[in-house]
Amino acid sequence: MAQFQATASAPVNIACIKYWGKRDTKLILPTNSSLSVTLDQDHLRSTTTSRADPSFEKDRLWLNGKEEDIKDGGRMATCIAEMKRLRKQEVEDKQPNEPQVVSLFFVTYLTLKLTSCPKLSSYHVHIASYNNFPTAAGLASSASGFAALVSSLAQLYALPVSPSTLSLIARQGSGSACRSLYGGFVAWEQGTRPDGQDSLAVQIAPQSHWPDMHALICVVSDDKKGTSSTSGMQRTVETSALLQHRIAHVVPQRMAAISAAIKSRDFDAFAKVTMADSNQFHAVALDTEPPIFYMNDVSRAIIALIVEYNRVSMEKGLGRRAAYTYDAGPNAVIYTLKENVKEIVELVVKYFPQRDGFKDVFGLFGEAGVQGK
Ligand code: PMV
Repeated sequence: MAQFQATASAPVNIACIKYWGKRDTKLILPTNSSLSVTLDQDHLRSTTTSRADPSFEKDRLWLNGKEEDIKDGGRMATCIAEMKRLRKQEVEDKQPNEPQVVSLFFVTYLTLKLTSCPKLSSYHVHIASYNNFPTAAGLASSASGFAALVSSLAQLYALPVSPSTLSLIARQGSGSACRSLYGGFVAWEQGTRPDGQDSLAVQIAPQSHWPDMHALICVVSDDKKGTSSTSGMQRTVETSALLQHRIAHVVPQRMAAISAAIKSRDFDAFAKVTMADSNQFHAVALDTEPPIFYMNDVSRAIIALIVEYNRVSMEKGLGRRAAYTYDAGPNAVIYTLKENVKEIVELVVKYFPQRDGFKDVFGLFGEAGVQGK
């Protein structure tokens, strides 16, 4: 009997313009658009295998080898249900008896076999997912996790849909996950429709457009973060006046500015906007009642180092050559061009000698190019 199984992997993405705040918590619709870079590094990936079988009695999930509950009506259940619905709508309802050839990112052989099973969407699924980096440590594990989940189900179901369509579903698992469906430079357009059908990811530029762009990941701490992004965002939306200013008067201009910087490969402009937006995201967290602190003293010392590095660089007429950014945790991501990587790594290692505890993770640094896809 045919086995219905597919494996897909997705990398993390790190936002330059931060998503922070939901206008619809069930559909995960954001209060502002955001933009990120999808990293291409073996150390920062989720890999997910999905299998459907008529003998399975319920949907089940294993995360890093440990079985997790799939809560009824929860995000995982929503993503699985949405993928089954897409399968029915895109394949089974349309041409139940005719195999289709799909050329998006599936092998034709698999597609023919899978699409010839008219009942596939009615089978329960078993899903196993692995992260090869610390889960929930401010390294966007939910982004790569839900993107890999949706991609593996899309392969399993041989869906003839675009990454943007899949991003609509990944978004309902974790907002930032929608951006990991594309490589390169990716925007999540907030959209205006109440049903969320226009709140999706679009690629601003592929990795090949700016192949020298690199990211250095400085693991300051791999502890689980104190305030989850879900509860942090909710509190910020309820209490921060600064967030309202950010949504109305800051993000739209920054989305335009950073898209232009990417298109013209203007690193100085890219760095200026990226650092300003990281700063404002953490200011908004501080403006929340009670305040949220995601960065620690080491994070702030890394900021000081990059500020000084850029000051010297600008004095020499070279413009900014590095950009720090921090998500909901203390770990720094430093964007820079390939030619500066060595110099910056040496500087950081000089001022922040590697502590033993980090060796088991992936050292103080992971260096990543940008994911191509
Ligand atoms: O998708 P979530 O719920 O993990 O939220 C991510 C929020 C930030 O990482 C802080 C910003 C972003 O745009 O990725």
